Amino acid sequence: MNWRKLRIFLVTVLILCVIPATRYYQIDLPLLRFLGGSHVDPLSLHLSGEFVENNLGTEHDADGSVTVRMIAEQYLFVPHCILVPAGVPVHLRITSADAVHSLVFDGTEYAVKVLPGTISKAELQFPRTGEYKTVCREFCGAGHYAMRSELKVVPSDQFPALRPEERGSCAAQ
Ligand code: CUA
Repeated sequence: MNWRKLRIFLVTVLILCVIPATRYYQIDLPLLRFLGGSHVDPLSLHLSGEFVENNLGTEHDADGSVTVRMIAEQYLFVPHCILVPAGVPVHLRITSADAVHSLVFDGTEYAVKVLPGTISKAELQFPRTGEYKTVCREFCGAGHYAMRSELKVVPSDQFPALRPEERGSCAAQ
């Protein structure tokens, strides 16, 4: 192998390594947008679109699963308390209003990285009823260590038919 070939080989390897690296660390959001990821404007989340306040929380889907929409922001998750049925697919859609956060359901293996400008999607399922602390595991600023909320899993046959204004709170359950 001569030097020219070696150089081409090394550059190719470097490029092939860099592309997945940018995807993994999600550092190049404009590139991801260009490539067609889901994106939202973090500055107008509360004004229009999927993440307006009365659209947050748990929503029934036609097939019996549920969709949960959340916003992560310094230093809380909105809604603060989420109610989901046990043993039912949960489609999580979450975005950030500011910094990079990471939503972790304590005691499970679920961890969802949340970035401003992007909708993070995750498929969750909680086989048993219970309560999980949801904590932020990505250092996001001075209030990071206090950034936590709650997820309550109730039996699916007791899961209430939530009205839109009830989707975002499980405090009364
Ligand atoms: Cu949000 Cu740490």
